[in-house]
Amino acid sequence: MKFFVDTADVKEIRELNDLGLLDGVTTNPSLILKSGGSIAEVTKEICDIVEGPVSSEVVATDYKEMMREAAVLSKIADNICIKVPLTLDGLKACKALRSEGRMVNVTLCFSANQALLAAKAGASFISPFIGRIDDMGVEGIELIGEIKQIYDNYDFPTEILAASIRTVNHVKQAALIGAHVATVPPATLRALVKHPLTDKGLAAFLADWAKTGQKIG
Ligand code: E4P
Repeated sequence: MKFFVDTADVKEIRELNDLGLLDGVTTNPSLILKSGGSIAEVTKEICDIVEGPVSSEVVATDYKEMMREAAVLSKIADNICIKVPLTLDGLKACKALRSEGRMVNVTLCFSANQALLAAKAGASFISPFIGRIDDMGVEGIELIGEIKQIYDNYDFPTEILAASIRTVNHVKQAALIGAHVATVPPATLRALVKHPLTDKGLAAFLADWAKTGQKIG
C-alpha cells in the first residue's frame, strides 16, 4: 500500500519524507488555505520535496475553465496530479487530461457508481472520502470494498486512494480491503507506529541494559 500525506504543510511533508514514509501528497483548497501560502508557491515547494504524485485541485466547475487551470497547475512540476471533482464536467476534464498524458485524481467520491464513472473516464486515482461518510452515520470503509470489487471485476487500472482518513483503524481497514493508496493526515501517519507494548518493551530493555554497565562499540 502506498502512503500519501494529506496536507499542504511543507514542514510536515519534509519531515515525513525524510523518514522515508511518503509515496506522494494530496492537497485541496482547504489545505492550501490552512497553509497560508499561494497555491503556486506551496505546490512547487512540495513537488521539490516529494518524488511521487502531488495532487493539486482545480477550483473551476466548468470543463473549459478546469482545463485552463489544469494547464497552469501542470506547469508547476512533472509530478503534479490534477485533482478534479466528481461531476460531469470533472469527468470530461479527466478524460481529456488523461489523453494528454496527465495524472488525474478524481476527488469527492461518495458512491460506487461515481467510482465506476471515474474509472471509465480513465482516472489515475479515485478518492473515496471514508471519514465524511462515517460522519453521516454510515460505514465509509464499505465503499472502499465495493469499489475494489467493481474495479477487480473489470480490471480497471484506476488506483483506489482511500481519502478523508481520520483514524489508524481506517488505514488498517483500507489496507485489508486492498486499497492501493491511503492519503493520511500527518498526525495519523505518525500514530501508525505507536503501540503501548513497544514503548513498555523498549523501556524494560533499556533499563536492563543500563544495569549491565556495557556500551556497544
Ligand atoms: C483527499 O484528497 C482530501 O484532501 C481529504 O482526504 C479530505 O479529508 P477531510 O474529509 O478530512 O477534509
